[in-house]
Amino acid sequence: MAQAVKKPGRAVRLPAWRTVAYEIALNGWRILRETVNDFSLWRLIEYPWATRALEVQPGDLVLDLGSGTSSYPHMLAKEGVDVIVLELDADRVRWQLAKRRATARRGDGRFFPLVASATAMPIRDESVQRIAAVSSLEHIPDDEAVGRELARVLAPGGLAALTLPYTSKGRTDFFKGIRKFLPAGPNAFVQEGKAGSFFRFYTEADLHRVYVAPGALKISPLEGFGRSILNGRYHETRLTRYWRRFVLKDLLLALIVHPLEERFDRSDPLYVMFTLRK
Ligand SMILES: C[S@@+](CC[C@H](N)C(=O)[O-])C[C@H]1O[C@@H](n2cnc3c(N)ncnc32)[C@H](O)[C@@H]1O
Repeated sequence: MAQAVKKPGRAVRLPAWRTVAYEIALNGWRILRETVNDFSLWRLIEYPWATRALEVQPGDLVLDLGSGTSSYPHMLAKEGVDVIVLELDADRVRWQLAKRRATARRGDGRFFPLVASATAMPIRDESVQRIAAVSSLEHIPDDEAVGRELARVLAPGGLAALTLPYTSKGRTDFFKGIRKFLPAGPNAFVQEGKAGSFFRFYTEADLHRVYVAPGALKISPLEGFGRSILNGRYHETRLTRYWRRFVLKDLLLALIVHPLEERFDRSDPLYVMFTLRK
């Protein structure tokens, strides 16, 4: 799986408008009026960022951790990138394979489904140049095992692009009023009545302890999203049910409100994005 370091070539770019175009191509027009497949405003910020951060070119291989039912691996494959879809839930991997069979075209990158846990990956030491983990590792209770595994499988010079929920000290009002989450530890929650649904926020110290320290990796500056306007209205209110509809509205929020927030709003972001280099 190890690949030669950089060769000159076309960088793959997935601007927000193109991720919407891919979602329509992969899921049909209904994506414009309802959120399906883990897709939301945040992905319009995360997928463009992760693709840029990983410096991906056609023919490269990306290991996508916790793919769920996301379209991201398909978008990469359509750009000529080979993808390993690593996901714990076998049903979701089957869903991904069915989606792949229905949408594959000549010239796409290869698609390697893998039912496995990010805490114990069936992957050789130092064999992967690029890892993406988009809004997935916060759902894994044993995140320290994931941190060790990331350090183990990354090839020297390799890059991992992570997006994770963030707090500078503590979040107690998570999803207030819309879903019942019970505290399971500092900044960690389990969803009431839904076995196994785990969620956590990271402080900067947590990020260093769990993901940087095990491999003495080099971390980039944190980039944020979901500050007061988007987080307060998008995620944690009773309006969420309506607010989450209409992906074209998400596109406008990603292109207009998100950059303004990042420029002028110093409140805690809901999520941070960063790379780790070995
Ligand atoms: C929020 S979803 C995925 C988001 C997706 N990456 C996206 O771009 O929309 C989180 C996924 O992580 C998966 N997951 C949970 N524990 C895992 C583990 N130990 N190893 C791999 N995947 C895991 C869940 O089954 C779920 O599909």
